[in-house]
Amino acid sequence: MHFEKHVFVCENKRDPSAPRPSCGHKNSTQLRNFMKDKVKEMCPGRSIRVNMAGCLDRCEEGPSVVVYPDGKWFKIETEEQVVEFIRETLIEGKTSTHLSMKE
Ligand code: FES
Repeated sequence: MHFEKHVFVCENKRDPSAPRPSCGHKNSTQLRNFMKDKVKEMCPGRSIRVNMAGCLDRCEEGPSVVVYPDGKWFKIETEEQVVEFIRETLIEGKTSTHLSMKE
Protein backbone atom coordinates (compact mmCIF):
# COMPACT_ATOMS: atom_id res chain seq x y z
CA MET A 1 0.00 0.00 0.00
CA HIS A 2 1.24 3.45 -0.87
CA PHE A 3 0.60 6.35 1.44
CA GLU A 4 -0.75 9.61 0.15
CA LYS A 5 1.28 11.51 2.75
CA HIS A 6 3.94 10.65 5.24
CA VAL A 7 4.39 12.89 8.28
CA PHE A 8 7.66 12.45 10.17
CA VAL A 9 7.95 13.75 13.72
CA CYS A 10 11.41 13.93 15.27
CA GLU A 11 11.55 12.15 18.61
CA ASN A 12 15.30 12.28 19.09
CA LYS A 13 16.41 12.75 22.69
CA ARG A 14 19.95 13.84 23.36
CA ASP A 15 21.61 13.89 26.71
CA PRO A 16 20.40 17.11 28.39
CA SER A 17 24.01 18.26 28.65
CA ALA A 18 24.52 17.98 24.85
CA PRO A 19 25.31 21.22 23.06
CA ARG A 20 22.31 20.96 20.69
CA PRO A 21 18.70 20.81 21.88
CA SER A 22 16.49 17.89 20.87
CA CYS A 23 12.84 17.55 19.96
CA GLY A 24 12.26 14.60 22.31
CA HIS A 25 12.76 17.00 25.22
CA LYS A 26 10.07 19.29 23.78
CA ASN A 27 7.20 16.85 24.13
CA SER A 28 7.40 15.48 20.57
CA THR A 29 6.54 11.87 21.51
CA GLN A 30 3.30 12.94 23.17
CA LEU A 31 2.55 15.27 20.24
CA ARG A 32 3.10 12.47 17.70
CA ASN A 33 0.80 10.10 19.62
CA PHE A 34 -1.83 12.82 19.76
CA MET A 35 -1.34 13.51 16.02
CA LYS A 36 -1.80 9.82 15.11
CA ASP A 37 -5.12 9.69 16.96
CA LYS A 38 -6.30 13.03 15.56
CA VAL A 39 -5.39 12.12 11.95
CA LYS A 40 -7.56 8.98 12.28
CA GLU A 41 -10.38 11.07 13.66
CA MET A 42 -10.11 14.10 11.34
CA CYS A 43 -9.02 12.38 8.09
CA PRO A 44 -11.13 9.22 7.85
CA GLY A 45 -10.44 7.12 4.76
CA ARG A 46 -7.20 8.96 3.91
CA SER A 47 -3.93 7.06 3.70
CA ILE A 48 -1.80 9.33 5.87
CA ARG A 49 0.97 7.84 7.98
CA VAL A 50 2.44 9.58 11.02
CA ASN A 51 5.87 8.15 11.80
CA MET A 52 8.50 8.80 14.41
CA ALA A 53 11.83 10.00 13.11
CA GLY A 54 15.31 10.36 14.46
CA CYS A 55 17.10 13.67 14.29
CA LEU A 56 16.14 15.65 11.19
CA ASP A 57 18.95 18.14 11.77
CA ARG A 58 16.73 21.14 12.46
CA CYS A 59 17.08 20.71 16.21
CA GLU A 60 17.21 24.40 17.15
CA GLU A 61 13.91 25.00 15.28
CA GLY A 62 11.99 22.00 16.63
CA PRO A 63 9.92 20.14 17.52
CA SER A 64 10.54 19.29 13.86
CA VAL A 65 7.89 17.85 11.56
CA VAL A 66 8.31 17.20 7.82
CA VAL A 67 5.64 16.10 5.36
CA TYR A 68 6.29 14.06 2.22
CA PRO A 69 5.86 14.09 -0.72
CA ASP A 70 5.55 17.86 -0.20
CA GLY A 71 8.92 18.14 1.55
CA LYS A 72 7.56 20.95 3.77
CA TRP A 73 8.74 21.59 7.32
CA PHE A 74 6.80 22.67 10.38
CA LYS A 75 7.43 23.48 14.01
CA ILE A 76 4.65 22.04 16.13
CA GLU A 77 4.75 22.62 19.88
CA THR A 78 1.24 22.07 21.25
CA GLU A 79 -1.82 19.87 20.77
CA GLU A 80 -3.69 22.92 19.52
CA GLN A 81 -1.04 23.37 16.81
CA VAL A 82 -1.32 19.67 15.89
CA VAL A 83 -5.01 20.22 15.18
CA GLU A 84 -4.22 23.38 13.15
CA PHE A 85 -1.58 21.49 11.17
CA ILE A 86 -3.98 18.64 10.35
CA ARG A 87 -6.71 21.04 9.31
CA GLU A 88 -4.61 23.49 7.28
CA THR A 89 -2.00 21.22 5.75
CA LEU A 90 -3.40 17.70 5.62
CA ILE A 91 -7.04 18.61 4.95
CA GLU A 92 -6.93 22.01 3.20
CA GLY A 93 -3.62 21.25 1.45
CA LYS A 94 -1.77 24.43 2.47
CA THR A 95 1.97 23.90 2.21
CA SER A 96 2.83 27.17 3.92
CA THR A 97 1.18 28.24 7.18
CA HIS A 98 2.10 30.12 10.34
CA LEU A 99 3.55 26.82 11.61
CA SER A 100 5.99 26.56 8.69
CA MET A 101 9.71 26.65 9.30
CA LYS A 102 11.72 29.10 7.20
CA GLU A 103 12.70 27.62 3.84
S1 FES B 1 16.61 16.57 17.51
FE1 FES B 1 14.85 16.94 16.31
S2 FES B 1 15.64 17.73 14.50
FE2 FES B 1 17.39 17.22 15.64
